[in-house]
Amino acid sequence: MTVTAVAWYRNSDRTPALHCACRLSLPLVEWPQAKGLVLLFNQHRVGLALAGQRPQPVHGGWGDGPLRRRLHQSSRKDALLRACSLERKRRLNIVDATGGFGRDAWLLASSGARVKVVERNPVVAWLLQHSRAEEYGRCRSLAECIEIHQADAAVFLRQMEEEACDIVYLDPMFPVRRKKLKNSQRIELLRAVTRFEGSNDSLQGLLELALRCARHRVVLKRPRGVAVISADSLKVRCGFYSLTGSSSRFDVYTRRSLKRSSSLE
Ligand SMILES: C[S@@+](CC[C@H](N)C(=O)[O-])C[C@H]1O[C@@H](n2cnc3c(N)ncnc32)[C@H](O)[C@@H]1O
Repeated sequence: MTVTAVAWYRNSDRTPALHCACRLSLPLVEWPQAKGLVLLFNQHRVGLALAGQRPQPVHGGWGDGPLRRRLHQSSRKDALLRACSLERKRRLNIVDATGGFGRDAWLLASSGARVKVVERNPVVAWLLQHSRAEEYGRCRSLAECIEIHQADAAVFLRQMEEEACDIVYLDPMFPVRRKKLKNSQRIELLRAVTRFEGSNDSLQGLLELALRCARHRVVLKRPRGVAVISADSLKVRCGFYSLTGSSSRFDVYTRRSLKRSSSLE
């Protein structure tokens, strides 16, 4: 399902919505005329919304309650932070090659990393830029640690120099399972916009590209039950271990120990 238009709810939302519509080359409509999936402006909040439902835009929610709880609970408990070795704040350079709403990127940057976020979908990439601009108003130093790039991850990684960053993080969309998961509305809307197009082959290719660019490791988030892409099957030599989170698994492909990283402070 593609985003059909940029919609506005109150008169005060019309001008920013118009700017966004021009930028994304999408039609501008008033909310009652919206059809299907739209990018909705409502009282300066911007996000995805389905016509016919409540006019509540769904966005990345950077720094919201659940993200802050993850940040402030012992980071030793957070599987993503452990997989990226950010239990203690470290100035690591991370490429988050499948950005989505950028919630993981926000968490990584809040834990000390500098994060380049790559997202191929133009509407989602626009939302990431918007979240970053809002963050700039709240905490400039944090926003400055996050860069957004609209690009396909494979193209972006191919253009990077070998070993140009410390870690590449990959969180491709999980396949839809037969048993309906209690997915949040946020991930369901993201799935609707981006559609699942992955195959194991292309994921393996992306993983190999990522391993070429990462000095230390690649972290791949996967559903708990799916088979591991074995390190032996990859073209780049690496070690492997896995961390299991509450609903997903973080497969860590290691190249070099992080203890000897020059970018640690
Ligand atoms: C599961 S979401 C990522 C969620 C993200 N980690 C977060 O915290 O919000 C997957 C995202 O990766 C993007 N994506 C998938 N394949 C990509 C690729 N080859 N290049 C760039 N982005 C990609 C999709 O468009 C989607 O927005």
